[in-house]
Amino acid sequence: MIHRYNDHSLLAHNTFGMNVKAKSFIEYTTVDDLKELLVEMARTGENQKMLSIGGGSNLLFAGDFQGTVLHSLIKGMEVCRETDETVWVRVGAGEVWDDFVAYSVSHQWYGAENLSAIPGEVGASAIQNIGAYGAEVKDIISQVEAVEVETAQICSFNVGECKYAYRQSIFKKELKGKYIVTHVIYKLSKNPVFHIDYGNLKAVLEGKPLTLENVRNAVCAVRSSKLPDPKVMGNAGSFFMNPVVPREQFLKLQAEYPSMPHYEVDENSVKIPAGWMIDQCGWKGRALGKAGVHDKQALVLVNLGGATGQEVMQLAYTVQQDVKQKFGIDIFPEVNYID
Ligand code: EPU
Repeated sequence: MIHRYNDHSLLAHNTFGMNVKAKSFIEYTTVDDLKELLVEMARTGENQKMLSIGGGSNLLFAGDFQGTVLHSLIKGMEVCRETDETVWVRVGAGEVWDDFVAYSVSHQWYGAENLSAIPGEVGASAIQNIGAYGAEVKDIISQVEAVEVETAQICSFNVGECKYAYRQSIFKKELKGKYIVTHVIYKLSKNPVFHIDYGNLKAVLEGKPLTLENVRNAVCAVRSSKLPDPKVMGNAGSFFMNPVVPREQFLKLQAEYPSMPHYEVDENSVKIPAGWMIDQCGWKGRALGKAGVHDKQALVLVNLGGATGQEVMQLAYTVQQDVKQKFGIDIFPEVNYID
């Protein structure tokens, strides 16, 4: 089924809560619908300005979108292969990401639990390479199924072909805008494997039995204590990526700021939390107009009510300048700017 709407409000489709419109908004429920749409859009030229969205949890609209927004309603979660140790689950791009995590945990399948409560949908998980608490979705992706925008052909990418890196994939770089993800096949373990070394997860789990449910609950609790609920205050989670810097640069900064938190990347590079640097610049809890820096996690920019995309971009730019001036480090948005 294909649903088409003109001059459609995107308020319910972006977690920043921007009250903007799309010239055209189309939802589809099957891969065949999507293929039919893409053929039609290529014929009319409507594919010239097109944006495929998931839950809209990583988007910042500068204003109304003068093109066509596509949103997948492809649903379903099915086991497509299974061994004694492993299960492969094929999930529709339009499923809510956290519903898939809950489903995996309820079946006692391991691998998705650290990524609990991340907003957004399954298709976007594979494009953004979502990550939290020491896990990245690439670690459990087996295949990504997609349709090529130009030809409407179905393709399948194995995990290596997706060129995953921290918050990066081929779908955000070389193939940006060229494919629409329809399904993701995740590979989960039936045997217990826990990763609870990140941050304060271990402390939150102290005294509780180590179970999938408890890890999921702990991740949800830590997230909700730090991150604003987009239903209450518009935001897109981490606004910036954590920069990776050469070790020499890190060592110089560490001499000046001995408490600087950091994560080892490899022998030559170190990742520094952008949130910490923004906090050190005094931005936590401050605002520029109706756009603000969250008071519990400086990596998150928030819509204090009625902010425009331009206002949030202006705040982001000012924060970037301040971080550059104080630490000599460029930080870049994880959020996708749309104009
Ligand atoms: N910190 C501060 N002040 C702040 C924020 C952070 O000092 O205002 C310090 C913390 O004390 C900690 C360090 O910076 O020492 C890192 O903070 P945190 O553990 O909260 O994680 P993060 O690096 O800020 C990343 C992800 C989050 C993910 C968390 C937990 C990115 C861009 N962000 O944030 O992802 O939930 O780790 O794994 O990598 C998202 O992408 O939307 C997201 C929320």
